[in-house]
Amino acid sequence: MKRWTPTDRIVAPSVLAADFSRIAEECSRAIAAGGDWLHLDVMDGHFVDNISFGPAMVEAIHATNDIFLDLHLMITKPDHFLPQFVKAGADLISVHVESEADHDIATTLAAIRNAGCLAGLALNPATPLRDVEPYLDQIDLLLVMTVIPGFGGQSFMPEVMPKIEEAIRLRHQRGLSFHLEVDGGIDSTTAITAASAGANVFVAGSSTFKAPDMGTAVRAIRGA
Ligand code: DX5
Ligand code: ZN
Repeated sequence: MKRWTPTDRIVAPSVLAADFSRIAEECSRAIAAGGDWLHLDVMDGHFVDNISFGPAMVEAIHATNDIFLDLHLMITKPDHFLPQFVKAGADLISVHVESEADHDIATTLAAIRNAGCLAGLALNPATPLRDVEPYLDQIDLLLVMTVIPGFGGQSFMPEVMPKIEEAIRLRHQRGLSFHLEVDGGIDSTTAITAASAGANVFVAGSSTFKAPDMGTAVRAIRGA
């Protein structure tokens, strides 16, 4: 598999906006449209107020194609479920820094890498960057949420951009090379704002899967 670097512009269609009754065709459609990664939102009804899908769906998607699978775990006790998601075929697994009460973040990030996956750390719009700072040298991707997690189709929050700029500064200062991913309300317009702040991975659900032409939508985000 290709080795992605933070200088790559990566578009990750979010399967949450796909038609679940035709999931294999929907994933093929995202790949044919030029999606680089598939973003898979796992929600447990506790960490966020919504339930999406679990390891069985990840495994089913993995069985239909070999695209890079970017898992976004919005669940309590992510460490407990880690082995199941690794086995299901995840390439990158992000956990939320706000789930700190249920597990040791540093141990979970190390476990993700030890399992052969890339490790990501996510933070909500209201969470300050200082909460993730202690872990920056342990991650391959920082996921800066641009909506309050739980649902697709919400509006992008531009007020989060200073956090991205600060993360990019720290990355340079510390000689690190994690990806900077944005998730929530991303389309060809908001991607310009996020890219200017320094983001290189763009998760997009509604604006890609629900576009009249998915290929045009993906290219517009990549070119933003
Ligand atoms: C929100 C999810 C997002 C969601 C994005 O909790 O983490 O990945 O699918 O959907 P859009 O692109 O529609 O805002
Ligand atoms: Zn997500």
